Amino acid sequence: MSEKTASLRESFISALATADTMEALEAIRVEYLGKKGLVTDLLKDMKNLSPEDKKTFGQAVNVLKEEVTEMIAAKREEIKKAEIERENSLMPEFDISTPANLDRGSYHPITLVQRQCEEIFKSMGFAVEDYSEIVTDYECFEALNIPKNHPARDMQDTYYLSNGQLLKSHTSAAQNAIYKKYKDALIREGKPIKAIFPGRCFRNEATDACHENTFFQMEGVMVDKNISISNLIFFMKTMLSEVFQKDIKVRLRPGFFPFVEPGFELDISCLICGGEGCASCKHSGWLELCPCGMIHPEVLKAGGIDPEEYTGFAFGLGLTRLAMMKYGVKDIRDLNSGSLKVLSQFTDDK
Ligand code: PHE
Repeated sequence: MSEKTASLRESFISALATADTMEALEAIRVEYLGKKGLVTDLLKDMKNLSPEDKKTFGQAVNVLKEEVTEMIAAKREEIKKAEIERENSLMPEFDISTPANLDRGSYHPITLVQRQCEEIFKSMGFAVEDYSEIVTDYECFEALNIPKNHPARDMQDTYYLSNGQLLKSHTSAAQNAIYKKYKDALIREGKPIKAIFPGRCFRNEATDACHENTFFQMEGVMVDKNISISNLIFFMKTMLSEVFQKDIKVRLRPGFFPFVEPGFELDISCLICGGEGCASCKHSGWLELCPCGMIHPEVLKAGGIDPEEYTGFAFGLGLTRLAMMKYGVKDIRDLNSGSLKVLSQFTDDK
């Protein structure tokens, strides 16, 4: 009978040698030690043995059982160790003695002006909203009173996705959603809609020092009863004087955008010469900064707001332009270049 235990031992050892995963090991364990396993099976033959032989055979089986259990436990540890080593070998080398890199990186100048504008508008009671860069044709154009084939679409050619959606060509694309979000509070509770929504915009442009296919704007809207152009001028003047930390004069010129009526181009007094006239402002004393206007009745209607009862203003501040003016960046392409030489100059201004 001892040959039987010996040969089972042999077959177990060679099976164990082939197991290199936990699953394979578990299968072997069940095969040998399970209730109907091979080791337990040996005991079936006991009934035909003499009491003397039964004792020795029983002992031999028990010894084998213990041995098998131990070998499985040892193999389990071995596989675990190998798995950890394999995982470690996939990790990048990490040298804990390398000194820390103390160069902290810096905020992008556009992020800096954006945050500053957000703080200023928040302090005047405006909510800051975030909106998707991918929008529908309805949001970007139709809801803004720019129907299909309207010539105003030419100025805002953008990038279209195969599903018909597009990369927003201006932050005005969020207006409709903002009106729908806040209109109930306006109508039921009389809470004016005051929101700004900064965002990345895209246009199919040939790039040069003043044009980029990717740029940032910050849209702002305010809707309530009796909102007029004076409210618009007040908020813009306050915000710009804060951003530039000096009293800024503003003026409005007529400008056309299908979603505002009347529409304006807002100019600010030249930052370099203070309005005297210099090369930067082409000797006019003014810099063009921000298109704006009174929200068109059709646009309010599309947002679920009755234009007979409510009026509002909207502006589209060019954050990229603002950053260029504030930091004296001459070429817009520098801002998208990712060049640390350019961008790290603004680190201290947080
Ligand atoms: N969305 C317009 C543009 O990008 C700017 C704008 C916003 C004009 C709000 C008027 C009112 O050209």
